[in-house]
Amino acid sequence: MKTIITGGAGFIGTNYVYYVLSKYPEEQFICIDKLTYAGSLENLEGALKNDNFRFIKGDIADKDFIFKVFEEEKPDVVINFAAETHVDRSVVDPEVFLQTNVIGTGVLLEACRKYGIKRFHQVSTDEVYGDLPLDRPDLFFTEETPLHASSPYSASKASADLLVLAYYRTFNLPVTISRCSNNYGPYQFPEKLIPLMIANALKDKPLPVYSKGENVRDWLYVEDHCEAVDLVVRKGKVGEVYNIGGHNERTNLEVVRIILKELGKSEDLIRFVTDRPGHDKRYAIDPAKINRELGWKPKTNFSEGIKMTIKWYVDNEQWLQNIISGEYQNYYKKMYGNR
Ligand code: NAD
Ligand code: DAU
Repeated sequence: MKTIITGGAGFIGTNYVYYVLSKYPEEQFICIDKLTYAGSLENLEGALKNDNFRFIKGDIADKDFIFKVFEEEKPDVVINFAAETHVDRSVVDPEVFLQTNVIGTGVLLEACRKYGIKRFHQVSTDEVYGDLPLDRPDLFFTEETPLHASSPYSASKASADLLVLAYYRTFNLPVTISRCSNNYGPYQFPEKLIPLMIANALKDKPLPVYSKGENVRDWLYVEDHCEAVDLVVRKGKVGEVYNIGGHNERTNLEVVRIILKELGKSEDLIRFVTDRPGHDKRYAIDPAKINRELGWKPKTNFSEGIKMTIKWYVDNEQWLQNIISGEYQNYYKKMYGNR
């Protein structure tokens, strides 16, 4: 069995590569990644030591490149993690989100249609459902919740989902989609809430909390997400969508306080800054379907997971340093300089 994993040099993709390499040593895995600012070959150093793993640098939106890889490799399975993923960047510059997330997914689907495939899996997000109000804790996203995206990022992911489902209906392509809540864990780029707050706290820099920090996210440890995706790819029903989440809701302020406490830093580092435009209030996944049909439930609770995550960043200070000492400085100034 040969699987192409796109976006395998990013946060979740890297964790997925290590997950499947340890679980399926007899299978072949190929990672395709453009190595944007969010991807790094350094993440895959350990994986590249395995004979059953290969890396190919390239863009999923480049049709000639993708068709050539499919012609040469004839993959059985394609799992699409590759995407532009940061909401704040999509507010500043939406175009690349359309190019990678919509056109790129379209190119992969066309390649699957032309060369044949046993399964195409789209790694999607709960953000396609829009948001839930803060004063209705009884409401959750199910697979039937209408798509109602808020940001250019989530609109591009929702568009990709519709394209995937259209290829199932029109061409009978064997597809599945998973929509997961916010992930945290090793290798996450420090533009996202948890690694950004850890990075700043470690350097005693201010922690920029949008608005009053009341928005709610539903956190899932990345390895639990990897396990769920693998289950959907192998046992999920073709043409179906599966929500992934573990009922682990926290306000952003709660998360930031937990990080500061864990690192022994003062809450005086917290700075309330101007809100994100169109900021989604609350995400909350109902994971009943994947639990009922595939027997999945998360293994890591938040208090354990956040400790492991903080420890990983402390132990891998050089990894963090390599990122924050480069182009990241310009990004940070642009995003937070006058906020
Ligand atoms: P990430 O930004 O850390 O990594 C994305 C990877 O995709 C990078 O390695 C990047 O180089 C690669 N990439 C970007 N454009 C590419 C292109 N045109 N061609 C090939 N490779 C390209 O993202 P992540 O947080 O690991 O997210 C992975 C997937 O999971 C995304 O599809 C995202 O929408 C989805 N998702 C993420 C979360 C989360 O909390 N991070 C939650 C639910 C779903
Ligand atoms: O829900 C899944 C989604 O989770 C994924 O599809 C996205 O790829 C991923 O980036 C994430 O989106 P969010 O916008 O929820 O994640 P982010 O880490 O950017 O922000 C989490 C919350 O923290 C959000 O309410 C905004 C807030 N925030 C974020 C940053 C970066 C701050 O208050 N300050 C910050 O500096």
